[in-house]
Amino acid sequence: MTSDPVLSIRAASKTFGSRRALDAVSLDVGRGEMIALIGPSGSGKSTLLRSIDGLQTVDAPPEGNAGDGVITAFGGPVQARGKVSDQVRKARIRIGFIAQQFNLVGRLTLFTNVALGSLGRIGTLRGLFGAWPAETKAAAMAALHRVGVADYAAQRANTLSGGQQQRGAIARALVQKAKIILADEPVASLDPVSARKVMEILRDLNKTDGLTVVVTLHQVDYALRYCDRVVALKAGRKVYDGPTAGLDRAKLIDIYGPEFEDVFWEGAPQ
Ligand SMILES: Nc1ncnc2c1ncn2[C@@H]1O[C@H](COP(=O)(O)OP(=O)(O)OP(=O)(O)O)[C@@H](O)[C@H]1O
Ligand SMILES: [Mg+2]
Repeated sequence: MTSDPVLSIRAASKTFGSRRALDAVSLDVGRGEMIALIGPSGSGKSTLLRSIDGLQTVDAPPEGNAGDGVITAFGGPVQARGKVSDQVRKARIRIGFIAQQFNLVGRLTLFTNVALGSLGRIGTLRGLFGAWPAETKAAAMAALHRVGVADYAAQRANTLSGGQQQRGAIARALVQKAKIILADEPVASLDPVSARKVMEILRDLNKTDGLTVVVTLHQVDYALRYCDRVVALKAGRKVYDGPTAGLDRAKLIDIYGPEFEDVFWEGAPQ
């Protein structure tokens, strides 16, 4: 860890019926880190990211373990005791959440979607009626340029390709002035070239702007190439947390199971 944690998760568990989606997961994320969250399908990655943004609650702790299930961002509460904090907005305004799909409002233009990122800071009605302050307009266009989709600003979001929408969602996080980006499978449905572009944008925001990035990835090679630290979940438990370089073949097989041998690619760790 390079500095004070900007995110802190203490022994978070989440049970859906009899299924344990998260099992006592603790995690500290330092300012400026770029972390890949990996693990098989159903291992709890989305549940963890959504819990960090206060989009869902984790379980209330058992009697006597009041510290369990406490999640903070920038030192402020996101959730505790199984309840989302009433101050969650303060944390959320600094968190850009990028979901795998349905990130943008389909019938609105790309520009409007991106400008909506500023709504935490300007009046909602003003924003909805399109009276964007000049500053917001400039910020939205700058963000669209930054992620390479300015040419599509006037296009309705539901007519954009998946990759263009993902980049739009990143632009919206920039207009929001997010300090952390939580991206849930941002490249899962993209072709390899678009996927690489999105990963390069995230890496650039991390390196150039110092944004903290936590990104869930199914492609282990992207985790290895773009992230400094890897956190792996398996059946809701954290089974690896360390430098990307420490993730060797044996650990990957442990995370994904013996079939992982069959999907090794050129350049995979030994
Ligand atoms: N709302 C819900 N109701 C019931 N079960 C749920 C709910 N959300 C998640 N789960 C279960 O919790 C477990 C973890 O789900 P989660 O979506 O976090 O996995 P994941 O690691 O993101 O998987 P994937 O890689 O497929 O996106 C799964 O077994 C899932 O079925
Ligand atoms: Mg998921």
